[in-house]
Amino acid sequence: GYDIAKLLKETGDTTLDIGFVNTASCTSAITYIDGDAGILRYRGYPIDQLAEKSSFLEVSYLLIYGELPTEAELEDFTERVRQHTMLHEDLKSFFRGFPRDAHPMPVLSSAVSALGTFYQDSLDPFDKAHVEISTIRLLAKLPTIAAYAYKKSIGQPFLYPDNRLSLTENFLRMTFGVPATDYDIDPDMVKALDQLLILHADHEQNCSTSTVRLVGSAHANLFNSVSAGIHALSGPLHGGANSAVLEMLDGILESGGDVDTFVKKVKNKEDGVKLMGFGHRVYKNYDPRAAIIKKTTDTILNKDGVGDPLLDIALQLEQRALEDDYFIERKLYPNVDFYTGLIYKAMGFPTKMFTVLFAMGRLPGWIAQWREMIEDPATKIGRPRQVYTGETERDYRAIGDR
Ligand code: ACO
Repeated sequence: GYDIAKLLKETGDTTLDIGFVNTASCTSAITYIDGDAGILRYRGYPIDQLAEKSSFLEVSYLLIYGELPTEAELEDFTERVRQHTMLHEDLKSFFRGFPRDAHPMPVLSSAVSALGTFYQDSLDPFDKAHVEISTIRLLAKLPTIAAYAYKKSIGQPFLYPDNRLSLTENFLRMTFGVPATDYDIDPDMVKALDQLLILHADHEQNCSTSTVRLVGSAHANLFNSVSAGIHALSGPLHGGANSAVLEMLDGILESGGDVDTFVKKVKNKEDGVKLMGFGHRVYKNYDPRAAIIKKTTDTILNKDGVGDPLLDIALQLEQRALEDDYFIERKLYPNVDFYTGLIYKAMGFPTKMFTVLFAMGRLPGWIAQWREMIEDPATKIGRPRQVYTGETERDYRAIGDR
């Protein structure tokens, strides 16, 4: 009921771009995406090469410092991260304070902002040494926090990090290990998890990364900015999609495995049902990460004793959607999350933990983007305008007269 063109003029020729569909908020030299061609590169390196040949820590280094490390640089970086995996003992009481069934995402984001309070002498966003130590602390401690959030939810004791292990091995052991018991590390699972973390490590100005930059643009420290990013990621349209996919597959299986009826519901937009794990704001051809994950899904789910009837439902859904005009016309293809949940489930993670794993993967991207934003002299505090559509001026009326 309002004239948008007139309102825009009145607001000083403001641009209205709901959801920032066409508006770039910054310049960035970190991640390149060509949505139409299905291309994703970190610092110029194609995602498939990194997923196949690199490791999560090496990719973290690449995103944050701009170049692939030499052997000596990677060793030094790995060692620095290794030295900071433990949490301050007092932080443990933080986990104890949450109800047992607390969702691990708010536990994760709360613990990350709490973490900053332990390092109040090194939080200056413009002190390079402070930023560097905060970077290492976050990279090292987030897996420990994530594992503690999980242990808390199942009522088991926390395991200290075992720094003879790699970051990913350590995380799996802290999550699934039991004190005073050997934990057998499955190298296929380690490789798959490391690869999933790489695939999630950055994705330019997505909702959580934009949040990290926006919060940081007010000169909030790295811990608080990342904590805000974790909250953004928790939404079902963003990082929450991987668990929503599994819930969707479970629902279809429970109601008899009828894929066609479900697809019909989606197409008729019944009760707002969507095909979760499909569609992307930027990829309108295919999500290159989904293709890599699909291969890994095959490897993990074909391992002895790991198969899952949900995989069959996922494959059928994908097949139906790829042949159906509704999805073709709207350029809806599987995104990174369509298969990740199945792998996480096969690894033994409960659905609630899926988005936590996404956060662990996205962390180096958030850090790299925050650092780029802070170091860029062109950065200004993020402060969008609006187009006001409410009442014009009116006089206050006493409560008895309303
Ligand atoms: N299932 C069914 N229909 C869909 C889906 C879907 N998954 N996604 C989009 N559509 C339809 C919309 O209803 C709309 O139809 P219309 O033109 O008839 O109104 C059309 O496709 C365009 O969709 P938009 O919502 O305008 O696309 P947008 O770019 O805003 O949304 C998003 C992208 C949020 C990812 C959307 O595709 C979606 O909700 N997907 C499901 C959730 C999901 O998988 N999210 C993970 C994203 S990837 C990530 O965060 C890592």
